[in-house]
Amino acid sequence: MNAPTPTAGPRGCPFAGTSTSTATAPAPVRGRHAATPPAGPAVPDPVGLARSVLGVLRRTGKHFLPAPLLVRLDCLRHRAGTAGPYFAAFLDCVLDKYDGRFRNRTYLALPLLEAMLDDPATGMTPDRLAAILMSDVVRFELAAATRPHRPDDRPDDRTLGTRLRHARRFVELCSAGGTGGAEPVGAVADWLDATVQPVHVLHDEYFFIRALQCHELTFTVLVADVRVATRAVRAGAPGAAAAHLRHASGVFARAAVLFRVVATMRAATFHEFREFTQGASAIQSDQYKRFEAACGAPDRARLSADAFAGVPVVRAEVLAGQDDLSRAVLETRRPGAPGWDSLDAAIADLEARHQRWKAAHRGLAARMLGAAAGSGRTEGVPYLDRCLQNRLFGTLLAA
Ligand code: HEM
Repeated sequence: MNAPTPTAGPRGCPFAGTSTSTATAPAPVRGRHAATPPAGPAVPDPVGLARSVLGVLRRTGKHFLPAPLLVRLDCLRHRAGTAGPYFAAFLDCVLDKYDGRFRNRTYLALPLLEAMLDDPATGMTPDRLAAILMSDVVRFELAAATRPHRPDDRPDDRTLGTRLRHARRFVELCSAGGTGGAEPVGAVADWLDATVQPVHVLHDEYFFIRALQCHELTFTVLVADVRVATRAVRAGAPGAAAAHLRHASGVFARAAVLFRVVATMRAATFHEFREFTQGASAIQSDQYKRFEAACGAPDRARLSADAFAGVPVVRAEVLAGQDDLSRAVLETRRPGAPGWDSLDAAIADLEARHQRWKAAHRGLAARMLGAAAGSGRTEGVPYLDRCLQNRLFGTLLAA
């Protein structure tokens, strides 16, 4: 099914005034990106407006947002900057289907999460934000469980218990480094709800989106660890590099818990909403591919195939010749010197954890997807089978 297309409408931007109502007034223009109207007043209450839009979105699913509302939001884009980075990021995500640029990045509202991480006032770190997001799953599930009406797609009590147990475990693991509480405050509290924009109306899509967001944040931590380890190798400190890689291996435990959380979803539920997620896939995850490239430059075949086609920025970083851990080790290794044995062991451990991660992902995908193609337009499980052959540190093994 296609996203709704806005129909004809009158002139001017209905949001030019001060009202934050999201009543579906007649559409002002036909088509995408209406000609920029003259600059109007600043958006008066961006948080309130976003909440009103979300009220509609949660009732319909992003795929089915009413065309007049989409056109009115389109009309606000030229003033989004006046409302600050959060509102601009919100519009960027909410209008992705309308613009025909629906992708993993906007499905998961990553621009909004990045705004939280970039905002010095939030003091947010990827670990803490991941803890907040998964705590929000616990809150969401518990609130839904106390509602008298139980829609068909809600988990039964046993499944809910399993989901909550794994979600709480994930929060614990993220908080282990003493990163601070999982209670959102300030701008994070204001915009947290806006970071879940389901395409459909099924209960389980909420936690699915949160799990994938936590995946991005987890791999953000892994990228940082490997890059710091690379700099330590270059500085002649392989022992320090090993310590950073051991931290990275620990973080993989967290990534594995995400699969256990997602495994509590029924395949039938997944198939119901994935009809509307076509075009968005974790194959477009910048941080996952950045992690891989930080360990060692992918070979030419992988770099020019599906795996990197969806991450053009990361591909460009690799082609620009960025440093990576494998290269740093090959260029500086001094066998027998202190620290190298522990670094070799840490590299082997990280490789093994990544292999286990891929195998667990492949198992989950096979159960949920069967023989269906991937939403990233690969053949699905056969693509993941081939990925099992890849190694993070293949050039080191070959040397
Ligand atoms: C319902 C559960 C899931 C299914 C059916 C599934 C399926 C797939 C498929 C078929 C691909 C290949 C690309 C494509 O065509 O889309 C893929 C890639 C990927 N998935 Fe999943 N996935 C699931 C859950 C997850 C979760 C929970 C995560 C992370 C926590 C994840 C992370 C990834 C990553 C990083 C890739 C890129 C792999 C690469 O290119 O090497 N997936 N997934």
